[in-house]
Amino acid sequence: MKVLATRRYPGPALHELADLEIAPLASLDAPRPDVEGLVVANEPPPLQLLPSLRVIANFGVGYDRIDVAACAERGVVVTNTPGVLDAATADLAFALILAARRRVVEGDRIVRSGGWTGSWADSGFAEELTGSTLGIVGFGRIGAAVAGRAQGFELRVLYTQRHEVETELGEYRELDALLAESDLVTVHVPLTPDTDRLIDARRLALLRDGACFVNTARGEIVDEGALVAEPDVPAELLGLPNVVLTPHLGSATRQAREAMTRLVVDNLLAIERGDPPLTPVLSRA
Ligand code: DGY
Repeated sequence: MKVLATRRYPGPALHELADLEIAPLASLDAPRPDVEGLVVANEPPPLQLLPSLRVIANFGVGYDRIDVAACAERGVVVTNTPGVLDAATADLAFALILAARRRVVEGDRIVRSGGWTGSWADSGFAEELTGSTLGIVGFGRIGAAVAGRAQGFELRVLYTQRHEVETELGEYRELDALLAESDLVTVHVPLTPDTDRLIDARRLALLRDGACFVNTARGEIVDEGALVAEPDVPAELLGLPNVVLTPHLGSATRQAREAMTRLVVDNLLAIERGDPPLTPVLSRA
């Protein structure tokens, strides 16, 4: 099976594909009837140029830029990589919670700019993390992994999602109540039409004074106009000392990224053998 991958995805698994071509989608300017498998990182596939396509193996859990309905109509299987990046993303959420709550980046800037005089006993205090209330928006695999880590920090955990679940990791709240009650809020929902701008101006206003808000999910979930055009970062955010910004880092550990490629390849090989895909977003009806 001829597979086109939009970049050299990390790890050794990609070498198992016997007929692999690496090319960015932008370079496809004519139909490619030879391509049966496509590997993308949440990039819109040019279905019109790939008439023989059988499978799109998405490198990542989120597939919000892939038109799965159009793929279904064409009989193209779409797979993603759930499960292998939960720890990496939950770790990053905690890194950001700690960085924001304990003003780590702000402190780094003060030291670098020569602003630290050696005084430490009188000012620059942050709120302690221990004992705070953490609100988790979206209690899937990653949200639950964040809740697990919260135990170590003795946090009181609230969670919200469409349905209340049975868990000892936190108490259920409606979204608005969770925002109003939490000292720290972390977002872990996929981007769908229902979650697009889920956290709008009205909901942001529900946050407590001094609350920390962390979003390691898609930028569009928060109604911050310019965040929609990722990776453009709004100038207003760049100027705020208490905001910590990162590039697309959620799953950026070697372990997670290599495991994602492993799953991408396993899905492609399953389709090539005529087996069901391991982690389909959508399979042939
Ligand atoms: C995903 O899985 O959708 C993430 O964005 C990858 O980092």
